[in-house]
Amino acid sequence: MALKIGMFDSGIGGLSTLKNLLCQRSDLEIYYWADDAYAPYGSKSEAEVRGRCHAICQHFIHQGIGLIVIACNTATALAIDELRAHYPEITFVGVEPYVNVVNHLPWQAQQRAVILTTPLTGQSARFSRLKRQLDPAGRLDQYSCPQLAKIVEHAFWQGDPQLAEKIQEELAPLQDQHYTYAILGCTHYPLVGRYIAATLNTEVISTCSAVSKRVLDLLDLAPCNPPDTPISFWFTRSSQDTGYAVKTLSAQAPWPAL
Ligand code: DGL
Repeated sequence: MALKIGMFDSGIGGLSTLKNLLCQRSDLEIYYWADDAYAPYGSKSEAEVRGRCHAICQHFIHQGIGLIVIACNTATALAIDELRAHYPEITFVGVEPYVNVVNHLPWQAQQRAVILTTPLTGQSARFSRLKRQLDPAGRLDQYSCPQLAKIVEHAFWQGDPQLAEKIQEELAPLQDQHYTYAILGCTHYPLVGRYIAATLNTEVISTCSAVSKRVLDLLDLAPCNPPDTPISFWFTRSSQDTGYAVKTLSAQAPWPAL
């Protein structure tokens, strides 16, 4: 394998991106870091999130990883420019809310869409710039979900029979808005995409496949059929400890499902 790939998120959100990548190509050496001890990022200070990004990237670089996927919209919004400047030898792929959807979907006049993000992504300068550039007419609304990433993270590790109700509560302010599309601007959200779609009676759109395509393009690889593949999965369960496990995740089952 030519290149080791590191992928990280505040927690398990980036698994939505990882799964999509594995569906297209299985013979990649991927190291996934779930930074659980510091999740969620979306309600932390900017300095704290940047500090975590540096710590994780240094760990990856130490392992000889040359391509890092920031599988987190919040970390991308706050840190990708700084990381690129600081580690010029590393190729970074970021994840951003798919604002450009506004220029690609067949819109009818009365149709509306909302971009769902974490609070930190929603208030970031990078997101505001992206929105200004790609959606100058302001066709897309934006909504910062106060707790959604945390709800998803908790449900993944502990299970949550109230998951659907919690998501309904979280999105209650949007329920009468009749959005045609909800653009998922946090990698945790595709993991509960079907709940979001049902709650808002909308179509959900994520960037997972665009990110996978970008990674494969950078590696000059075409999609191929995946057998099971082992993924090195790191996680921080406390600030003192770095857990490490190798899990075999296939593009099909068994895949962590919510
Ligand atoms: N999954 C991440 C994102 O895409 C982070 C969510 C969080 O930790 O708040 O923004």
